[in-house]
Amino acid sequence: MSQSIDMENPAITDHEIHPLIAQRWSPRAFDSKHIETEKLAQLFEAARWSASCFNDQPWAFIMATKDDTANYQKLLDCLVPANVIWAQVAPVLGLVVAQKTFKHNGKPNAWGEYDAGQAAATLVLQATALNLVVHQMGGFDPAKAISTFNIPETAKPVAAIAIGYAGETSNLPTDLQERETAPRARAPLSSFVFTGEWGSSAPFV
Ligand SMILES: Cc1cc2nc3c(=O)[nH]c(=O)nc-3n(C[C@H](O)[C@H](O)[C@H](O)COP(=O)(O)O)c2cc1C
Repeated sequence: MSQSIDMENPAITDHEIHPLIAQRWSPRAFDSKHIETEKLAQLFEAARWSASCFNDQPWAFIMATKDDTANYQKLLDCLVPANVIWAQVAPVLGLVVAQKTFKHNGKPNAWGEYDAGQAAATLVLQATALNLVVHQMGGFDPAKAISTFNIPETAKPVAAIAIGYAGETSNLPTDLQERETAPRARAPLSSFVFTGEWGSSAPFV
């Protein structure tokens, strides 16, 4: 299968990184084109092989494709209005959920959210490899998500996600077009890679 990557808004990096990582970004302009079923399965297969504490795999994804109108609407209704504006074009919406307790002993899992985030990050990179884009969102109503989807007390919805093919920036409202085309920025390595003590930049960055 061809897996050439569209470099639409690549990270301008200080050091060379893998093109897949440079290519990943969070656009708001989606194409309404549906995602092939096999590709969707590949995304979750990638998440499945993510690392996790005790191999507990403390993640779940509550997903809906747009043709599943009722379930898609339920997800859309959980998003904050500012996200609905653009996310409603995406052909797939979902929630990333973290388990709060370990399966093997029922004790609190302090790494559940960390592991769910890793699974989501792995899914996002697989999506990038398939020329799909993913936009993750903290802007959703967790209480509404819990009641709408009967999420048990032992689990926590941590993020919403929109998945699809990249669309035309010109289809976004003007203010979002500006954000979409703004330069991507990051803090320097020296501000977060430390040696010896907190705040002391590592000598190799
Ligand atoms: C956990 C998380 C929550 C986010 N929440 C939102 C959100 O509610 N709305 C939004 O438009 N973008 C959201 N984003 C996207 C970030 O703004 C984006 O990842 C960041 O600006 C870096 O841009 P990039 O992903 O294109 O590199 C979120 C990203 C993450 C990982």
